[in-house]
Amino acid sequence: MAEQNFPQGTLMAGKRGLIMGVANKNSIAWAIARQLATQGAELAFTYQGDALERRVRPLIEGIGADLMVQCDVTDDASMDSAFAAIEKKWGKIDFLVHSIAFAGKEQLAGSFIEQTTREGFLSAMNISAYSFVDAARRASHIMNDGGGMVTLTYLGSERVIPNYNVMGVAKAALEASTRYLAADLGPRGIRVNAISAGPIKTLAAAGIGSGRHMFRFNKAAAAMQDNTDPMGVAGAALYMLSDLGLSCTGETHHVDGGFHAIGMPQEAPLKASLGIES
Ligand SMILES: NC(=O)c1ccc[n+]([C@@H]2O[C@H](COP(=O)([O-])OP(=O)(O)OC[C@H]3O[C@@H](n4cnc5c(N)ncnc54)[C@H](O)[C@@H]3O)[C@@H](O)[C@H]2O)c1
Repeated sequence: MAEQNFPQGTLMAGKRGLIMGVANKNSIAWAIARQLATQGAELAFTYQGDALERRVRPLIEGIGADLMVQCDVTDDASMDSAFAAIEKKWGKIDFLVHSIAFAGKEQLAGSFIEQTTREGFLSAMNISAYSFVDAARRASHIMNDGGGMVTLTYLGSERVIPNYNVMGVAKAALEASTRYLAADLGPRGIRVNAISAGPIKTLAAAGIGSGRHMFRFNKAAAAMQDNTDPMGVAGAALYMLSDLGLSCTGETHHVDGGFHAIGMPQEAPLKASLGIES
């Protein structure tokens, strides 16, 4: 199926930015990258390792980008060399997209209390929350004043979602970090925001236990009675990273078809989704 884009425009013309977290064409970071490119942005990409390079390279070449550096966010030397490569090529950047998270599969199934190990907790926090603080600091050193940063989060930070477990705790830390980063960088006109996306079928989402139930329940219970369109997430990122989002910072913005707003789902779609007859 051909990838959908918003109409071409110039909202990001003359701006350069780094996209962290494209693994394949289903990645949320890729949906965001495409829309930024459609609006004239020049993009650089990090990819996690050699296995992903062969998936990511053809994608980025397809949008005319060529700056692509390997980066494991748990490794300081890898972060050092990735940001050094971007500074060497471009000098300055205008925005950062952080779309990275990880928790071991065994942490994402069953009860939070029994499944959460010290190692699993620290690893989820490191990759899914600290990596944004680290990337934001490094990016801020080469970012023009007036730039923007966006990270991706999920409602599991605010409410209990079965099996999301330690990732919910990491997302809460990520959202709090977004506010602290916004305060630190605000005086330079750099805005830092988070998008709380509803469930989208990606590699990362596949790691969460009872994924099928999550998609069915979200569709039935969301205000829009549909799952989240990655284009909506990309549109929100475009707003936050362009001048459309002036004065918006420290925000966690939900793009989830209104799922977060519902206290009690409508009876009929819920029963249909759960296969209950009466
Ligand atoms: N898919 C969803 O339903 C959903 C909903 C809300 C928020 N999110 C968030 O969106 C972000 C992107 O996830 P996605 O759903 O697009 O899945 P994805 O699997 O396409 O992207 C996750 C990315 O994290 C990267 N990553 C993991 N560990 C890393 C490491 N040590 N170093 C460098 N990169 C690393 C992977 O390489 C991958 O590119 C994540 O923060 C995720 O929690 C996803």
